Amino acid sequence: MKIGVPKEIKNNENRVGMTPAGVYELTKNNHEVFVQKDAGFGSGFFDEDYEQVGATVLDTIEEVYTAADMIVKVKEPIAEEYPLIKSHHVVFTYFHFASSEPLTRAMLNSEAVCIAYETVEDEDGSLPLLTPMSEVAGRMAIQQGAKYLEKPIKGRGVLLGGVPGVPPGKVLVLGAGIVGIQAAKMAAGLGAHVTIMDINMKQLRYVNDVMPNHVVTEFSSEFNIRKRIKDHDLIIGGVLIKGAKAPKLITRDMLKDMRPGTVVVDVAVDQGGCMETTKATTHEDPTYIIDDVVHYCVANMPGAVPYTSTLALTNVTLPYVLRLANQGWEVACAKDASLRKGLNIVKGKIVYEEIAQAFNWSVDAM
Ligand SMILES: NC(=O)c1ccc[n+]([C@@H]2O[C@H](COP(=O)([O-])OP(=O)(O)OC[C@H]3O[C@@H](n4cnc5c(N)ncnc54)[C@H](O)[C@@H]3O)[C@@H](O)[C@H]2O)c1
Repeated sequence: MKIGVPKEIKNNENRVGMTPAGVYELTKNNHEVFVQKDAGFGSGFFDEDYEQVGATVLDTIEEVYTAADMIVKVKEPIAEEYPLIKSHHVVFTYFHFASSEPLTRAMLNSEAVCIAYETVEDEDGSLPLLTPMSEVAGRMAIQQGAKYLEKPIKGRGVLLGGVPGVPPGKVLVLGAGIVGIQAAKMAAGLGAHVTIMDINMKQLRYVNDVMPNHVVTEFSSEFNIRKRIKDHDLIIGGVLIKGAKAPKLITRDMLKDMRPGTVVVDVAVDQGGCMETTKATTHEDPTYIIDDVVHYCVANMPGAVPYTSTLALTNVTLPYVLRLANQGWEVACAKDASLRKGLNIVKGKIVYEEIAQAFNWSVDAM
């Protein structure tokens, strides 16, 4: 198969859909790979690295789309990319269709096969191609939170780990899933006092078993959250109710109960956020302040650490890319139930019901 790896053109997106290691595996299996010039540059991979393992480097995005049958990338196509996608293409990437009607219409019109990373689902309901990005975001949340707690950037002026003779800072983590556990682990590593909340007792039991004693679990309820926000310096929002908007656990009136300079990193912003005052921000302008509370609400946190994120993402996507290339999308999806769940749009039809529901469209009418 002919596989194309275009350079990401979304603002501040430095990840790339395939590393030289991935190209190596594909060329070993007799596939041809076309990589756009400088596609890997932001993630630390040079054109020569790709050429050495058998890829052909092409100057323009148009050449890559023209040469390839399957496109492997990271972010959803943006408007400039819509006309490049044709009916013979299989596109394997994050799509998040439910949040963009123009993208959905464009991909329907293209008659391409769109397989979305975010809906590939294992038997136990876990989302293997989303997990590594949650791991990155959870760990990064503490790094960012610690920075914004510094006084010159309007934080409380607290060092999370404290020093001998001075108690450490306090971190409240809402949600003990992938983001929450990684955040708690990082905060605990810095020596902070950590409270982690969830409504799922199984998760809290697991955290209680594996974390050190300065990570305390507490059941998530409005009463408990109201109590804890009064004396915690850094709050991490890592809740998720699958397929739904995040619950608003921190309402506007609660901000006045927090101390000035408290920092909230709402990682759940991509699902609407778990604070009433959350609005999405970018890496260029990541924070805003309401009632003296610093809000960090960047919707694509992993994009800031592309060296790590590209490897974390491609580690999990490559086995699926190989299956799609070796077997073709129809056989690969027929044989693999997890991959089949990734099928969102096939040749002008929505095949993932939740997307049609998001726009109140009838699937049959498509
Ligand atoms: N901003 C970013 O760049 C970025 C990157 C990766 C993930 N995310 C987002 O982070 C969020 C969390 O992702 P995840 O992979 O950790 O999900 P997850 O499913 O692993 O964990 C979510 C946890 O929230 C818990 N929860 C649900 N309702 C709750 C409540 N009322 N109180 C406390 N806990 C509650 C669930 O029981 C679950 O344990 C998602 O919205 C995800 O899309 C954002």
